[in-house]
Amino acid sequence: MFDLTGKRALVTGSTQGIGEAIAACLAAQHAQVYVHGATSMEKCEAAARRMVGDTHVCLQDLSVVECADRLYRQTGDVDILVLNASVQYRSAWNEITPEEFSRQINVNLRASLLLIQRYAPAMLHKGWGRIVTIGSVQQVRPHKDMAVYAASKCAQMSLVRNLSRQYAPHGVTVNNLSPGVIDTPRNDAALGDPVYSKQVIAGIPMGYAGTAEDCAWPVLLLCSEEGRYITGADLPVDGGMGLQ
Ligand SMILES: NC(=O)c1ccc[n+]([C@@H]2O[C@H](COP(=O)([O-])OP(=O)(O)OC[C@H]3O[C@@H](n4cnc5c(N)ncnc54)[C@H](OP(=O)(O)O)[C@@H]3O)[C@@H](O)[C@H]2O)c1
Repeated sequence: MFDLTGKRALVTGSTQGIGEAIAACLAAQHAQVYVHGATSMEKCEAAARRMVGDTHVCLQDLSVVECADRLYRQTGDVDILVLNASVQYRSAWNEITPEEFSRQINVNLRASLLLIQRYAPAMLHKGWGRIVTIGSVQQVRPHKDMAVYAASKCAQMSLVRNLSRQYAPHGVTVNNLSPGVIDTPRNDAALGDPVYSKQVIAGIPMGYAGTAEDCAWPVLLLCSEEGRYITGADLPVDGGMGLQ
């Protein structure tokens, strides 16, 4: 079950956190996995060394318009594309700068479209492919200081629904996974603050933050042959946080 032998995968933003757990999980199931980051090749290599399996590394800032072609030159075609990298700024609605707006939209939304445009044609030609975007519980429960981040994830979900319908006849599924509060380096400061952390945890029906691995296993299902009949879905992995 969930055997990915012979499949090639790219997981964006897999130097740490949720992306690293997803990449490790796919590699453990025998996919050849490209570990990707924006900061340094050393960080990508360090993450790859923590994984068991056939891993490779690639480096590309996804905020630039040439990102898809540059990344493709490093990886070639893949069967599985996990769009996990994102940037997130905390600013009150009336303090969001044009730079913060552009960077969040470019990395979280534009890069998703550009990468799909670059990588999907080979999947469609082959008649098999898996695309998974990582969204957020903020699609349904937006944080007041992350209006643009939340909007970027909603827009990405719209892209998923649109493309999943078009790709369905060709064996290529497109799904989104929406994490709630997950204990990753991104949340070190927030979850390390006992007062704020208590407030956040109080809003999670299950009463605790998830782990990166809680997200990785459902992504594996979506990427596997066993998940072939799931497309256009938005799968919450949030301990019930998105329930109204
Ligand atoms: N953690 C949560 O509670 C939570 C909740 C809801 C949704 N999510 C979503 O889950 C995904 C992973 O979150 P996380 O907490 O694991 O993130 P994280 O720990 O902050 O890791 C972010 C990853 O994205 C890469 N990245 C950042 N900026 C980039 C850029 N401009 N171009 C290319 N790559 C870039 C980073 O690479 P470098 O290491 O090289 O900088 C890193 O590998 C994100 O899409 C996030 O929005 C997370």
